[in-house]
Amino acid sequence: MRTLNVELGERAYPIHIGPGLLGQLALVTGALATPRVAIISNTVVAPLYLETLAAPLRNAGVRVTEIVLPDGESHKNWETLNLIFDAMLKDRCDRTTTVVALGGGVIGDLAGFAAASYQRGVPFVQVPTTLLSQVDSSVGGKTGINHPRGKNMVGAFWQPRLVLADTDTLKTLPERELSAGMAEVIKYGLIRDMAFLEWLETNMDRLMARDAEALSFAIERSCANKAEVVAGDERETARDGGRALLNLGHTFGHAIETGVGYGEWLHGEAVAAGTVMAAELSRRLGWLSAADVERTRDILRRAGLPVVGAALGADRYLDLMGHDKKVIAGKLRLVLLKQLGAAVTWGDAPEADIRAAIDACCA
Ligand code: NAD
Ligand code: GLY
Repeated sequence: MRTLNVELGERAYPIHIGPGLLGQLALVTGALATPRVAIISNTVVAPLYLETLAAPLRNAGVRVTEIVLPDGESHKNWETLNLIFDAMLKDRCDRTTTVVALGGGVIGDLAGFAAASYQRGVPFVQVPTTLLSQVDSSVGGKTGINHPRGKNMVGAFWQPRLVLADTDTLKTLPERELSAGMAEVIKYGLIRDMAFLEWLETNMDRLMARDAEALSFAIERSCANKAEVVAGDERETARDGGRALLNLGHTFGHAIETGVGYGEWLHGEAVAAGTVMAAELSRRLGWLSAADVERTRDILRRAGLPVVGAALGADRYLDLMGHDKKVIAGKLRLVLLKQLGAAVTWGDAPEADIRAAIDACCA
């Protein structure tokens, strides 16, 4: 097991990464306020892993409420959130009950928002089971749900007390989901870690073959990058750079997810196509070469990801991108690449260039 820390003062917490962690009781009980938990999972993950997590807790005298939600991005909404509140109230969960998210980023975001708001806030633990959630969404405290008009538009910052990333769970992850997670792994290389990007270029085949050692390294390096960025700008308020840089490809990608309907494109797939658009726009601004853009496409392709966006048309993209949380006073700020391994937030890209980049990268 490897342990990293997210340095947030009195709200600092560990990220444990390794095989066989789900059954390691002491790791979870150490994070509980009282022997009372509500484990939130879904219909796909619960049959695979809920008992492995819940049984040792129950045997140790912890009272466990199990909440199994419908699966998928299309359920990351108010209705599903309310199912959590209903179940917690019905089972008389109190203010000391720890909410435990067992699943991918959808469960983590939903459970985290429930933890942030149930009785004005209860302790929270993340047990991520997808590559994407182990390298990104379980760390940093962003929680929330989608709105029909925009991704992740309603939510809260609520840090977990612990992140438990059991790498054994990745053995059951479908291939397409592995690829989706790889989009966020590649992101860290592109925005701030050139040595990691080069390592990914050398090792992508091992990663896609689920080589345990390679996956563990990639997860740890991704989490180290994320923890450092979050510690420096927890609430994404830095004027330039900071946490916003973690959203490379996301403004374009969120437009795809919302535009085609939640759940059609996986989040990581939309981020991949969005990353190519961001790279192409960076080329048009004179920062990247055509070879850099092709290198970006190539590593994403090798991870089994789409590099051509949904054909929504530039008008629709721009309309949807206008809802982005990085819009300040009506001005769209995009995460772009000054060079491979170095991202910036940029509010001055001419609209004609944004349109041209979208058109060049869509079907
Ligand atoms: P997901 O949660 O939908 O999981 C993908 C699929 O894999 C689901 O069908 C799930 O049930 C299944 N699954 C999960 N673990 C499994 C396992 N071990 N074996 C087999 N199947 C398994 O998707 P995701 O990619 O994990 O997360 C995407 C979500 O995360 C999006 O909603 C995105 O907005 C959000 N996100 C949030 C943050 C953040 O900082 N909070 C960051 C990035 C992404
Ligand atoms: N995934 C973007 C962030 O956590 O800030």
